[in-house]
Amino acid sequence: MATEPAARPTPALRREAQTAMYQRALGTLPGGTDSNFRAWGKDTVYVDRGKGGMVWDVDGNEYVDLRMGYGPVILGHGDERVDDYVNERMRKGVSFSLTSEDEVVAMELVKELTGWVDKVRMTVSGTEATMHAMRVARAYTGRDKIVKFEGQYHGVHDYALISVSPDDMSELGDADAPVRLAWGRGIPDAVADTIIPARYNDIEALRRLFEARGDEIAAIIVEPVLGNAQGILPKPGFHQAMRALTEEFGILLIFDEVKTGFRFARGGAAEFFGIRPDLATYAKAMGNGYPAAAFGGREEVMSVLPDKVSHGGTYAGNRVAAAAAVKTLTIIKETNALETIHETGRRLQAGLRTVLDPKGIPYVFTGHPCMFGIMFTDTDPSEYRDWANTDHELYDAIAVGMHARGAMPEPDSREPWFMCEAHAAGDTIDRVISIFSDSLDAALEARAHGAFGPEPTGAMAHPGAG
Ligand SMILES: Cc1ncc(COP(=O)(O)O)c(C=O)c1O
Repeated sequence: MATEPAARPTPALRREAQTAMYQRALGTLPGGTDSNFRAWGKDTVYVDRGKGGMVWDVDGNEYVDLRMGYGPVILGHGDERVDDYVNERMRKGVSFSLTSEDEVVAMELVKELTGWVDKVRMTVSGTEATMHAMRVARAYTGRDKIVKFEGQYHGVHDYALISVSPDDMSELGDADAPVRLAWGRGIPDAVADTIIPARYNDIEALRRLFEARGDEIAAIIVEPVLGNAQGILPKPGFHQAMRALTEEFGILLIFDEVKTGFRFARGGAAEFFGIRPDLATYAKAMGNGYPAAAFGGREEVMSVLPDKVSHGGTYAGNRVAAAAAVKTLTIIKETNALETIHETGRRLQAGLRTVLDPKGIPYVFTGHPCMFGIMFTDTDPSEYRDWANTDHELYDAIAVGMHARGAMPEPDSREPWFMCEAHAAGDTIDRVISIFSDSLDAALEARAHGAFGPEPTGAMAHPGAG
């Protein structure tokens, strides 16, 4: 009997140092890491260094980095323009719990680049920024409830961890009556009860909700694209309709621009979609990886600070973060870094198309070329629940194969690929395309041999989407 060819072998990564580090770290850090999102069991990556668009683990394996630290590293790892400036400024001392000119300049740049933010304050993380923005909204409106969309991630404070990312969509409740799903234990019911989950891109449901409960609702917080599901885009007119609806009901609109800010456009997703929210949160790209973050908004709303609302933080506006924000935002303002990033993303998508189209596999690119995903489906996804109907097993198999071949997207099929300015250099993009192509072939071959589940019924019916 003829034997069928075995699935194409996947190159083996060196893992000795990482396996040892994992065992050692497990003795001290829960899961061997400082964040649940990095705890990948025995595949946990221990990083040595990064430069530009590349990253090396402690075993010396080299990858094109497509995670870029979940988005902050917008220029590239070890960017000398930013690092030299931060080094120079930090020699004057980093933490005084006094205010430095760096903070003033950084926040002036946020105002200038957004064009609508009147007042803004620094925090250390995106989590803090969304927490404070919610508090400001509650204080300004005198209402307690916050509406958030299913599948949207706003950090790890108690108010944010509702209906974020279950694998099983039935946990989110009936599509017409979503339930509050706390992510993990330890979130008091009293806190969870102040959050009302809604479905992204469903403006009619939002109107019904506002009509029923509008006088309890302080704000709606929205990631302008669904960053936690490969950047699913708003339907045409969705943001405009939501802006109009919030104004009609006196509800504040908070744009969580932690992923999109200073990336989609100099003025972030608000500029990109032509929206003026009331409040916005920023982090990630504003500091090229240094822990810089901020929340801000229009004058009247922010005027509850400093007298009526608590906000502070020993490290808020620390010199390192403020200097990083000054330099990064100046580069974004004065150079064509963003244009380069957008063009590089488009170039990568074009290359991926040439690989995917001949295969006849339905797929769509989600998000913006600077932060995009690939979903294997023949229908445009419009909300978090749609991810479940994509062929994410195929995506996962490709991602694992890419990792083994020297490119590192997030292994979770919900996280977009992040482009940085340095990805434009050399043959980086060609490398990713070729690695993707080999990984796709290997994944399809492995599926043909039953290595992972069959394609979902319906999802692969019509070739050539995308
Ligand atoms: C949209 C959004 N908001 C908030 C956060 C939380 O930011 P941080 O991880 O800096 O606390 C994130 C982090 O990924 C995010 O993507």
